[in-house]
Formats: sequence, C-alpha cells, structure tokens
Amino acid sequence: MSKLINSPAWRALSSHYEAIKPVHMRKLFQEDTKRFDKFSVQFDNLFFDFSKNRINEETIRLLIGLAEQAGLTANIEAMFAGEKINSTERRAALHTALRNRSENPVYVDGKNVMPDVRRVLELMRRFSDAVRTGHHCGHTGKQFTDIVNIGIGGSDLGPLMVCEALKPYAKPNLRTHFVSNVDGTHLVETLKYLDAETTMIIVSSKTFTTQETLTNAHSARAWLVGRLGDEQCVAKHFAAVSTNLEETAKFGINSDSVFEFWDWVGGRYSLWSAIGLPIALFVGMDRFEELLGGAYAMDEHFRSAALDKNIPVLMGMLGIWYGNFFGAGSNAVFPYDQYLHRFPAYLQQLDMESNGKGVDRDGNAVDYDTGMVVWGEPGTNGQHAFYQLIHQGTHLIPADFLAPLHSQNPLGEHHAILLANCFAQTEALMVGKTEQEARSELIAQGLQGESLDVLLPHKVFQGNKPTNTLLFERLDPHTLGMLIALYEHKVFVQSVVWNINPFDQWGVELGKQLAGKILPELRNTTMPSLHDASTGGLIKYYQQHR
Ligand code: F6P
Repeated sequence: MSKLINSPAWRALSSHYEAIKPVHMRKLFQEDTKRFDKFSVQFDNLFFDFSKNRINEETIRLLIGLAEQAGLTANIEAMFAGEKINSTERRAALHTALRNRSENPVYVDGKNVMPDVRRVLELMRRFSDAVRTGHHCGHTGKQFTDIVNIGIGGSDLGPLMVCEALKPYAKPNLRTHFVSNVDGTHLVETLKYLDAETTMIIVSSKTFTTQETLTNAHSARAWLVGRLGDEQCVAKHFAAVSTNLEETAKFGINSDSVFEFWDWVGGRYSLWSAIGLPIALFVGMDRFEELLGGAYAMDEHFRSAALDKNIPVLMGMLGIWYGNFFGAGSNAVFPYDQYLHRFPAYLQQLDMESNGKGVDRDGNAVDYDTGMVVWGEPGTNGQHAFYQLIHQGTHLIPADFLAPLHSQNPLGEHHAILLANCFAQTEALMVGKTEQEARSELIAQGLQGESLDVLLPHKVFQGNKPTNTLLFERLDPHTLGMLIALYEHKVFVQSVVWNINPFDQWGVELGKQLAGKILPELRNTTMPSLHDASTGGLIKYYQQHR
C-alpha cells in the first residue's frame, strides 16, 4: 500500500467519507442557514460557491490537512521559484513567469528570465500593431484580413479557446482560423474561402517537429506560393512561434517573424507566451496583457490566500474528494456563456495530459486514482442532451457551472433565462425530488392507482449531486485570464497530492512511434510485419481497398 493511502490524512478522510456518504445535502442546508456564506469565496470579480458539495466543515478541514500533509505550500513556492519540478524532463514549469506583472525577477539556472519574457512581449506588440494597422501587409501590398494558426495540442487549443472567448474585443474585419488536424480536410476547408493575398499563416509548435503541424504548414505554404506565384511571398505571409529556432530557420521563415519561447514553458501552459500571438493579433496587445494581468492576479491569490479560502486549492481538493473517496471518474464543466464554448476542450488537454499519470514522481505505480475524465459543453445545450444521465444515471459526476453576471450581448430576456437555467440545474442536482414530492405532483396532475405507481419511480430524483458555481462580472480578458490560471492551479494542486508530475506527457509518445512505423507500410504495398493480427489486418485491408 502506498504512503499516501496509508497516511494519517488519507485515513482520516476515508473514515470521514463513511460518515458523509449517507448524508443528503438537503439536510446539510436545512441544518445550517450559514452554509452558503461558509462555503463561498469572493476573489476579485470572481465568486466561487462550493456550498452544493457533499461536505461539512470537517471535510474541508480534513481535505486541507491532506494538502498540508503533501507539502502543498512548499510545492507552490517551488513552482513559482523556477525549481525543476518537471523532474522527468529536468525542467522548471514557469508559465507563471510569462504573466509576472511585478518587478520581481524569476530565475532559471541562476538567470533572470524576465528580461527575455519582456523582450518577446515587446516584439509581439510591435508585430501585432504593425499587422493590425496595415504597416506589415502582404506580398501584394494588401492588409491582412485572416490569420491562420497552424498548430496542435497546446499550440492550438489555448489560443483557439481564447480567441473564441474574446470575440467581442476583436478588431473588425480581422478573422482568426485554427488548423490542427492532419486530416487534409481541416486545412482545405479552412483555406477554401480565404484570399491568399490577405492571409497570414502562423506556424505554432514548441518543438517544430510535430508531424501534423509540419505537414499542414508545408501544404499551406504550397497553397500560398501557388496562389501568389512567388516564393518570396513566404517572408511576408508566414510567422512562427517555437522554442526551436534552428527548425524555423530551416522552414524558411524570416527571423523577424519568428517569436521564441523557452523549454520551461509546457505546451499546454503556453498560451501566455508567444503562442498567444494569434490572440494579440485578434484583440490587440493591450487586451492580451489584460489577460496576463488576470492570470497574475490568480497567481497571487494562489500563492497568498489561506488554503481554506484559496479557490484553486478548494477546487483541486474537492476533485480529490470525489475522485478518490466517492469513486467519481469524470468531472463536467458547463460554461453558461457561449463565448466559452471551447473551454471544456481546452481543459481536457490541460487536465488530462497533466494528471493522466499512473506512476508517482519516484516511478512507483500508484494504487489510487489520478486525473479524471474532463468533459462538457455550454449550457443550456447540455441540458437537452446529456444532463439526464447526471440527474438520474448511476454515475456520480461532479460538475462546475460557470456564468457571467452580464452578457456581452444583452438581448431581451435571454440572459435572465440563461442564468435561471444555470441556477435551476445546480438546485435540481442538489435537492432532487423525493418520492413523496413526485407522488403529490402526479396526484395533482390527476394520476392515481396503477398508472401512478408505474410512473412514480421514474419521476424521483435522488439529488445530492455535487456542483461548484463560478460567477463573474463579465467575460473580459482579465476575468478569462483568472479563470484559466485557476484551472491550471487546480490541476497542480491535485498533482501535488497524488505525487505525480503534471508537466510531462510520455503517454503520447507510443502512438507517435508506431504511426512512424506504419506510414512507410501504407506508402508501399508490402505485407505489413511485426503487428498484432488486428493492426496487420487493418493495414492489409487498407492496401487492398484504397
Ligand atoms: O503530443 C502531445 C504534445 O506534445 C502536447 O503536449 C503539445 O501541446 C502538442 O503535442 C504540440 O506540440 P508542439 O507544440 O511541439 O508542436
């Protein structure tokens, strides 16, 4: 049995779980009229209500005890201080330096990285200003109208999600597009209606070796040169963001249009770096810096707030409460803001690539569950699709509800209806409907006898389903920065308790290696070898039927 499972804090939570398991939240609310005040935190313009959780004060005390036992505060400081906490890659994880708005230095290997961070931000400002004002224009002298970002994973999902979220702040007549999938359809459908003369292409890749990105980048280059009829056009129309300046030079991208970042920035934590260039182009550098400012505010909260008033800590520990003690396997995220429609997809990489680990920092197989499946869709769409399973299915699915107080698009009663639905869902999930309540409703509808008895069990809702609600003023760049940093830190908190490294991703390597072997087999007609019967059979089937 692992040290964690055997630890006093874990054992205390295990026995506490037995006491809490049968308790209904309805009862907890009835017994304590101060519950909402006790289990909510206001920070900046963010309001975090975690009162609809299967917890009491003792639960929070014990969860915080577990975080303390794991040395959470020291681990937070180690991350901010640039220690090489990404042990398997021997790197720091310093996305927080990218949004450090203070004058404080941040050291990696004895070197203050802040001058480099500021230098690249300044280059991004100059470049984005020049493109937005038309000083940097295309090969034929026309102003850019479309920015195509080619990247995948962290070099796609973050900027894509933010550009969608900050649409109200975008420059009119400037559009962003994101191509990630190596399926030619993605690139072809994106370029189909674009005018090469007014299209800028940003190749974003930390390593600049990612097969999907480079394949798309070469095809995009062929499209551009084909349309404009001159190799020279690449210099004006292409930009690159990478840590690998040798490879960007080999690709032929003009060094004035290459923006660097550093190996101490993880791919899924990189939107704060030059990987955010499409954001800066879309909404302007001032707005991009507001986004950084929001993240910095959350960083300061994470570093300084008491653990039991610390939103990322509370969210992380509640996740552990449900994942490890209630056996929940997934965590849903429901933004009641259409602009956040890609937020769950972004969180999937952030959380699942970070905490989807089966060995601890010392290489021992863990004997407890780690990262949960993260999923979600914007409300209210989910309500009419999959919420049924959360309300009456057999799985416990803790869910986060996110909503702005003010819509960016006030339209009649729309926003009140949206929020009514958001609040109603968390209420319904919590209170449920007892058999007695369901019976009374059916009687009031005129049902009786057998028809009532047959329907009754289907009308009962157990309730007691946990939710967090995050309310914020409106989805502006500062608030979005806070929300993203909040989830980054939540993931970190959990990794500390589970004693796993959230900053590597070795699990994606095997598939890449095998695809590298299969590709030459698909190119020629030789019999595939050294595969299992299924894979070999599929390759052969493709060769015979293509
Ligand atoms: O394969 C996974 C991954 O390495 C992610 O971690 C990363 O965000 C993505 O691929 C893209 O990598 P790169 O930015 O180096 O192209």
